[in-house]
Amino acid sequence: MVSDLFDRIKSDKGPLGKWADKAEGYYVFPKLEGPISNRMSFNGKPVVTWSINDYLGLANHPEVLKIDGEAAHEHGMAYPMGARMMSGHTKYHEQLEQECAEFVGKEASYLVNFGYQGMVSAIDALVSKDDIIVYDMDTHACIIDGVRLHAGKRFVYRHNDIESCEKNLKRATKMAEKTGGGILLVSEGVFGMRGEQGRLREIVALKEKYNFRLLVDDAHGFGTLGEGGRGTGFEQGVQDGIDVYFATFAKSMAGIGAFFAGDKDVVQYLQYNMRSQMFAKSLPMPMVKGALKRLDMIRTMPELKDELWDITNALQSGLREAGFDLGTTQTCITPVYLKGDIPEAMAMVHDLRENHGVFCSIVVYPVIPKGMIILRLIPTARHTLDDVSETITAFTAIREKLSNGTYKRIAEAIMTA
Ligand SMILES: Cc1ncc(COP(=O)(O)O)c(C=O)c1O
Repeated sequence: MVSDLFDRIKSDKGPLGKWADKAEGYYVFPKLEGPISNRMSFNGKPVVTWSINDYLGLANHPEVLKIDGEAAHEHGMAYPMGARMMSGHTKYHEQLEQECAEFVGKEASYLVNFGYQGMVSAIDALVSKDDIIVYDMDTHACIIDGVRLHAGKRFVYRHNDIESCEKNLKRATKMAEKTGGGILLVSEGVFGMRGEQGRLREIVALKEKYNFRLLVDDAHGFGTLGEGGRGTGFEQGVQDGIDVYFATFAKSMAGIGAFFAGDKDVVQYLQYNMRSQMFAKSLPMPMVKGALKRLDMIRTMPELKDELWDITNALQSGLREAGFDLGTTQTCITPVYLKGDIPEAMAMVHDLRENHGVFCSIVVYPVIPKGMIILRLIPTARHTLDDVSETITAFTAIREKLSNGTYKRIAEAIMTA
């Protein structure tokens, strides 16, 4: 008997979807309103906002708004129409590619419309069935999905564990000797959940012993790390060892789109083989001209990165002094580790938003182990020291209530009501 596909969808809404009734509109799909800033509005109340990746505070910079508006006025959102290869190519796309490449110290780069789709497609294009992928187990979903498309072998290593990485490179080498293929190693420059940097220096050093190519997703490192914000490769002094460098415009650049950078021949190969770009409309002009402006600002306004780090250091040292566990972060991403179950976490975040005016993201099982809660804070150049001190006071108050069982009681009362 063939069942109705939608019967399953209605009865099994998925690991996150099953929480929709309780969480939607508040914990998931919340509506933050007002101009993107350190202080926005949620549920009709002002909140200090720590959940957006506008690291350098460019999203609402007057010069950015001006260029975005002018480009939209001049070109609309349609131009250029069609895929890059067919009719969607312009001198501005080319200029942006050249400037992105120069900025990250590579010969060439290629724009993609969305980082996520681009990454899936780049991995798909780079490997054939005889090639082997070796990747960090904590990599972003876009890398996992790219690996899923791979018809050949893949080996996953324990997160940021160089011993495990080497062991899997050894296995991959043996396998590649049989298939005659090559090896692609994929890591992130910065792991977005816990804020650790990928151990790129050690990974690049492994190139002395093993023959592999390295693809790095530097979504969170671009603009925030390295000299002038050139990313994690520069931060660790190994940019030349990264064969394919990726960054999205969705974070420090406060826009949309992304790019891959590397040697000319590799980038040309991507241009002609990345299906998500070959068969999709080109990035519209306001995004392209807007990105050129943003990149210019990153290049010429180093104070933005300094301001970001001043706030990051104040926030992280203040939280640590107040006794909070921030794990192993080495970047601006500031995870605060607490212990509790999901209903307690929900009651706590409700209190934080409604009564303390602090809005941050909450991460619970199944993203992290059961019993653990991460409140994840993203500092930006727009935040102030007042935002930091208000937040630390609020966090100290909610930690007290979490440990004395207040949120457990609230959650139980709601459940039984
Ligand atoms: C590490 C990482 N890679 C890729 C992406 C996807 O980029 P985009 O938002 O441009 O699709 C994200 C999230 O935005 C990310 O955090």
